[in-house]
Amino acid sequence: MSTNTLTVELGERSYPIYIGEAIHHQAEFYRRHITGRQVMVVTNETIAPLYLDETLSALSGYDVATIILPDGEQYKTLETLNKVFTGLLEHRFTRKATLVALGGGVIGDITGFAAASYQRGIPFIQVPTTLLSQVDSSVGGKTGVNHALGKNMIGAFYQPLAVLADTATLNTLDERQLAAGIAEVIKYGLIVDSAFFSWLEQNMDRLLSREPAALAHAIEISCRCKADVVAADERESSQRALLNFGHTFGHAIETGMGYGAWLHGEAVAAGMSMAANLSHRMGWITEDDLQRCCSLIERAGLPIRPPAEISPDRFLQLMAVDKKVLDGRLRLVLLKGIGQSVVTDDFDHQALLETLESYR
Ligand code: NAD
Ligand code: GLY
Repeated sequence: MSTNTLTVELGERSYPIYIGEAIHHQAEFYRRHITGRQVMVVTNETIAPLYLDETLSALSGYDVATIILPDGEQYKTLETLNKVFTGLLEHRFTRKATLVALGGGVIGDITGFAAASYQRGIPFIQVPTTLLSQVDSSVGGKTGVNHALGKNMIGAFYQPLAVLADTATLNTLDERQLAAGIAEVIKYGLIVDSAFFSWLEQNMDRLLSREPAALAHAIEISCRCKADVVAADERESSQRALLNFGHTFGHAIETGMGYGAWLHGEAVAAGMSMAANLSHRMGWITEDDLQRCCSLIERAGLPIRPPAEISPDRFLQLMAVDKKVLDGRLRLVLLKGIGQSVVTDDFDHQALLETLESYR
């Protein structure tokens, strides 16, 4: 299978997303972008035994160091970030050093933030190894860590030099993680691309059985959708917030249940159903659209209901710390149809309460 290249168009900070099979161990993709001699690969204890050797062989000739972090969303913290800084300082890495994030969204977000802040900014390359990170977190430059009081609350916008999405790495993902990535793929169909949503309805079984051509197509369309939105609104002053469809409910689930209990993609899946439920309750989408949305999410093996442990009141509390809250007003991403979304604070609060109550 050939390598496809998309570009995130951000002027002088534009960068390529390479999508292909077995590309993370090809030296040329790194050499095109790395300018200094020092390279630090940041990965975790699950991914290191699978992919670190190949990555290091692609980087032979550079002065390479490695940091292996513990695995899990619960380690996406300032403490873990500090381990990366300590490693960089111990190796006397300078501003010319490049970081390589080898792993899923947790590694990508931590490494990106380390790159944004070490010596006020050094370059980094994303090598995403989960479907979720290939279609979403590695693209667009949102980096950061969690705080006990809120998800992704500490961070920076900081774009990578390049993204290497190697579809072969998806073969070692477990089914639950694959499904979590499909949640973000479905998101793009729902918010901006009804034709892609229909394609997903017809091809979900191919994705679940990891057919390479189907996966590559889904990754490419997803990255195209994301790259277009990011190019138009890099710092989320308006339309980028659409990429947070399902996330206000989803982040409340993640924080409310304790980081790591629900996967990010699972929480987003339930959150998308909840946002669709509210959109339908307000008469913005038809019953048929709501059913299509929920049944596609379910076919991917994902939840369409939030956990019973989080009461409506607790949901409202958790949602109040969402980054989209503006002047004390909660803003939500809602649907006006399949492939049509809006970010708005002009929604019926009674309908929101009814949505939350409907899952008790
Ligand atoms: P993750 O990074 O925790 O990876 C999931 C699990 O899969 C981990 O145990 C990991 O070690 C393992 N893994 C990774 N690659 C593997 C492979 N090829 N084979 C086998 N196991 C592998 O989770 P994720 O779903 O990739 O990312 C979720 C994170 O991304 C969350 O923290 C979320 O907030 C963040 N996120 C960020 C953005 C953004 O724009 N920056 C967007 C969406 C999500
Ligand atoms: N995942 C949401 C964003 O990148 O804006």
